[in-house]
Amino acid sequence: MNITSRTVLVVGGTSGIGRELARRFAAAGSTVIVGGRNPEVLAQLAAEGFGTTELDVTDDGSVSRARDAVLAQHPDLDTVVAMSGVMLLEDLRDPAHFEAAQATINTNLVGTIRVVDAFTPHLIERGTGTIITVTSGIAFLPFPPMPTYAASKAGVHAYSEALRAQLDGTGVEVVELVPPAVATAGQDQVNPHALPLDAFATEVMQLLAQDPTPNEILVERVKMHRWAERDGSYAELVAQRSQALAMLPRD
Ligand SMILES: NC(=O)c1ccc[n+]([C@@H]2O[C@H](COP(=O)([O-])OP(=O)(O)OC[C@H]3O[C@@H](n4cnc5c(N)ncnc54)[C@H](OP(=O)(O)O)[C@@H]3O)[C@@H](O)[C@H]2O)c1
Repeated sequence: MNITSRTVLVVGGTSGIGRELARRFAAAGSTVIVGGRNPEVLAQLAAEGFGTTELDVTDDGSVSRARDAVLAQHPDLDTVVAMSGVMLLEDLRDPAHFEAAQATINTNLVGTIRVVDAFTPHLIERGTGTIITVTSGIAFLPFPPMPTYAASKAGVHAYSEALRAQLDGTGVEVVELVPPAVATAGQDQVNPHALPLDAFATEVMQLLAQDPTPNEILVERVKMHRWAERDGSYAELVAQRSQALAMLPRD
């Protein structure tokens, strides 16, 4: 895709990967609108020159209002990034984990569907555009301390595949960004070996700029996870990653 002249909405762009990709699209010449819940951060981003819209992806009304406001100001919107996500540790031996499970599905999976639904009619009407969904290496290779997170991201992967098939012929492409562990605030406690955000964003923008846009944006670091099942390393890697269960605060 041409990354230099897009009008991009990054939902969940108030921190981490979303904020960095928003900055990269803007630096490449695109117009960028950031969506998120945090009014203070949105105000800072507005001061940097971004368009902003306040929204909570778990709330229908909030997403519809944001959609209407963004499209009123940016009728040429052609790219929607559904970045919002929560990454929560869960101890499945403790039934209290259910709250985290529900929040994870509501934000990561249902929230993605809600955002995609809100903008798909506009993109189809334009006859061209890009929807970028965000999964994780964990969608393809579970990380046992974050079970519902893995389920939510595997769900977004499956949904993205079906969405791409259903939008075939409309001019709207569906691209799945599959990050490995990236050093953002969400990762601090979980993985000290996470990929630096800057290096990750550089590789992502290079891959996004390819023509045709790849269906999946796979940086080098995530390929061992993405292809573990095909490569026969799945069982060994899941066993290795199960050692991380020690990080759960169990009695
Ligand atoms: N970092 C990694 O290692 C990694 C690896 C694989 C995949 N990912 C995925 O990449 C995405 C970004 O992660 P990150 O590491 O950059 O984490 P992050 O810094 O915590 O960013 C998450 C973003 O989602 C937003 N968000 C959360 N709940 C929301 C809601 N209900 N409505 C609207 N926005 C909401 C957050 O905004 P608020 O300020 O409103 O909370 C924030 O902007 C996530 O989908 C994550 O699962 C990350």
